[in-house]
Amino acid sequence: MNQGFIVWEDEYRLGHEKIDSQHQQIIEMINDLYEARFYKKEQMVVSEVIERMCHYVTEHFQDEELLMAAIGYPDLEIHQSEHKFFIAKASQLCPRRGDGNVDIDDLMVFLKDWLLEHIAKTDHQYKPYLGKD
Ligand SMILES: [Fe+2]
Repeated sequence: MNQGFIVWEDEYRLGHEKIDSQHQQIIEMINDLYEARFYKKEQMVVSEVIERMCHYVTEHFQDEELLMAAIGYPDLEIHQSEHKFFIAKASQLCPRRGDGNVDIDDLMVFLKDWLLEHIAKTDHQYKPYLGKD
């Protein structure tokens, strides 16, 4: 993975191949977004990157929630509410196709802070339950 806006750290790893690679993919997508913005790509390109990322994150949350249910993680509902908060907030910030009014800087800061906090802390709370499924 290239050095970018967010650098993948080994401590983010949960030891679950699918989830770890999805987390890496999300970070890569945020870095793509940063690059698109940095190089002042057309709004259409930026919007497409954001849309692709929001879609991918939503699918990742579904996979993660299915995994937590499968391993009998007791705090699934609390974790799900964090995912719901993210999706609600992201859909406020994500532009509709062709809408040039999104504040990319706000979106970038939110994505970086929220996702890193979530991956580094909340996701790690189900780590001890992995391997029990
Ligand atoms: Fe999560």
